[in-house]
Amino acid sequence: MIPVFDITRQNKILKRELSLVFSDVIQKGVFILGKHVSDFETAFAKYIGSFYAVGVASGTDALSLALLALGIKPGDEVVVPANSYPTAFAITAIGAVAKLVDIGKETFNIDPKMLSSAITKKTKAIIVVHLYGQPADMQAIIKISKEFNIPVVEDCAQAHGAEVKVQKSLKEKTEWKKVGSLGDVGCFSFYPTKNLGCFGDGGMVVTNNPDIYKKVKLLRMYGEESRYNSILIGRNSRLDEIQAAVLLVKLKYLDKWNERRREIAELYHLLTPPPGRSPSATFQVSLRPTIILPYEAPYVRHVYHLYVIRVKKRDELKSYLDKIGIKTAIHYPVPIHFVPSMKYLVDQKGDFPESETACNEILSLPMFPELTDDEVQQVAEKTIKFLK
Ligand SMILES: Cc1ncc(COP(=O)(O)O)c(C=O)c1O
Repeated sequence: MIPVFDITRQNKILKRELSLVFSDVIQKGVFILGKHVSDFETAFAKYIGSFYAVGVASGTDALSLALLALGIKPGDEVVVPANSYPTAFAITAIGAVAKLVDIGKETFNIDPKMLSSAITKKTKAIIVVHLYGQPADMQAIIKISKEFNIPVVEDCAQAHGAEVKVQKSLKEKTEWKKVGSLGDVGCFSFYPTKNLGCFGDGGMVVTNNPDIYKKVKLLRMYGEESRYNSILIGRNSRLDEIQAAVLLVKLKYLDKWNERRREIAELYHLLTPPPGRSPSATFQVSLRPTIILPYEAPYVRHVYHLYVIRVKKRDELKSYLDKIGIKTAIHYPVPIHFVPSMKYLVDQKGDFPESETACNEILSLPMFPELTDDEVQQVAEKTIKFLK
């Protein structure tokens, strides 16, 4: 069987290192907001290139708390791509309205061309989702956000370590910046399947803004400035010591793991028709009728949290692969405006044809750093066999 994701292979490799840190936490007896959390916050902020980081209980909470820190109130509109199911819950959880925008056909990310027309007087924030590990077009999005004077929240739950090429002016050199450091605030999930995952739920908010930092730090623990002195309505949303200790161990390997994910993506690219096609010609494949491979925009460094192909006969391909022991998944099968629980907090006006079509055609092939070349080859060969 080839799993779509398997954490046990990585656990085996890291067993010794992880056992040592577990013993350390157990021996110290501090499980909430101790040294591992503050050390991990410092290390993660440095890795991303942000001044501040606050560990919280999940990626969803990271987004909700970031929005609260930006002053988002019930009834305010928050712009979000129509295909990012989990992100919408962070908006509706605080009573705000998810204002949907369609996605670009090749990138699966928010389409900057559609963004301006989604913004109304009620719009108070834009959430950009770097879906599947590919950064959105941040330069275009930030330009629009500045025109309207609306803050940008980056949902980096699937894009730890992904980078964007930035050039401030024609005179200045281009530089690569990590997602999370480009908008006003960046939000991460450490759900076990993520590029950087812990052994339960966990999340992080990063920012360069001291005011947002202070507010998120208050909000994650009842709004307390000091014990039992709450000055802001907050909640309990803390990253715990065990998770922070695991994440501190894993952060050291993140770049290497992301490199391996890129290598696997190259292998899939090369093994999928037409043979011998150079990876840089990926976009050409979108013209082919049978399969569309992931597209890496020229201004980004994709970290392939997921390797998502598009095929018209998606459901048939999925069940064929399943029968021969190749597991796949769909991220996500339903656009936000079709989610029953959300109807009352989602702006239903407008059409989101690209998001709707993508939901019917996308398929996530097995992707994790410990996948072997042989397994990648088998997946590609069987996929080609079915599509021929
Ligand atoms: C794009 C995106 N946003 C938000 C989330 C929510 O993160 P969490 O599961 O840690 O709450 C996820 C996780 O599935 C995600 O993939």
